[in-house]
Amino acid sequence: MPLNPPLPPWPDCRVWIIGASTGIGAATARRLLAEGARVAISARQAERLAEVAGGHANALIEPLDFTAGAQVTAAWQRIRAAWGGSDLVLIVAGTHAEIRAWELTEQNAMALLETNLHAVIKTTAVVLPALLAQGRGAIGIVSSVAGYRGLPKALIYGASKAALINFAETLYLDLHGKGLGVYLINPGFVKTPLTDKNEFRMPHLITAEEAATAILAGLAAGEFEIDFPKAFTRQLKLLRVLPYRWYFALIRKATGL
Ligand SMILES: NC(=O)c1ccc[n+]([C@@H]2O[C@H](COP(=O)([O-])OP(=O)(O)OC[C@H]3O[C@@H](n4cnc5c(N)ncnc54)[C@H](OP(=O)(O)O)[C@@H]3O)[C@@H](O)[C@H]2O)c1
Repeated sequence: MPLNPPLPPWPDCRVWIIGASTGIGAATARRLLAEGARVAISARQAERLAEVAGGHANALIEPLDFTAGAQVTAAWQRIRAAWGGSDLVLIVAGTHAEIRAWELTEQNAMALLETNLHAVIKTTAVVLPALLAQGRGAIGIVSSVAGYRGLPKALIYGASKAALINFAETLYLDLHGKGLGVYLINPGFVKTPLTDKNEFRMPHLITAEEAATAILAGLAAGEFEIDFPKAFTRQLKLLRVLPYRWYFALIRKATGL
């Protein structure tokens, strides 16, 4: 039994993707357009959005900075006016910066939290009233397996993603009874501009296209948590239940940090 109400078949589905100029969001937008969905794509880099749209008749380009609530509100109004409603809002946008405990400053922490947490919550607050008024539709939030438990170098990134996992769980509890779907998307390592900066070996690294395939499959199946690749996320889910003494020792051994 799926945890979420079914989405319309892709050719009838109207999807807004925030964070669609590169990486996972861009690949997901391309796949949805190829499946016949109507897709509105947002991010700050308008030229890259135009490349993703590729002149497709079903693509709407809405450049914005999603940390600016007024821009999100205006885009949401235009998208709903163009489509007469919306079936799915996918908040993919996010950023990453390695921060270790001794590098922590108010400035580097707040900069990361503004994008990875505050903007996601503010965007949810913008879109929810219309979804509730429709009485159907769904919201999907991209968090990360880095939100499962603490990891070295992910001092604030991990905290932002852990908060998003909790946020999505609570959204689900509140919204399921109102007929709305909530999707929590937890990728492992995906090759994108974000991870191209990483200098360490990334286990089970997949392409953005493989990530998009997993996301579309999870959405179509009505799953609450869409985590991938399974070979990696299964291991991490096991680590999640280990006592701290074992967890800390294993992570130190695996990362050398
Ligand atoms: N790659 C991985 O291994 C991995 C693993 C787990 C989770 N994730 C998560 O997956 C999501 C996508 O990451 P990615 O790997 O695909 O990275 P990416 O290629 O860097 O994509 C990030 C997207 O977010 C957009 N974005 C960032 N700040 C924004 C802002 N202020 N306003 C609007 N859009 C903004 C970027 O567009 P503009 O720069 O054009 O604004 C871009 O489209 C992130 O939330 C990330 O944390 C990634």
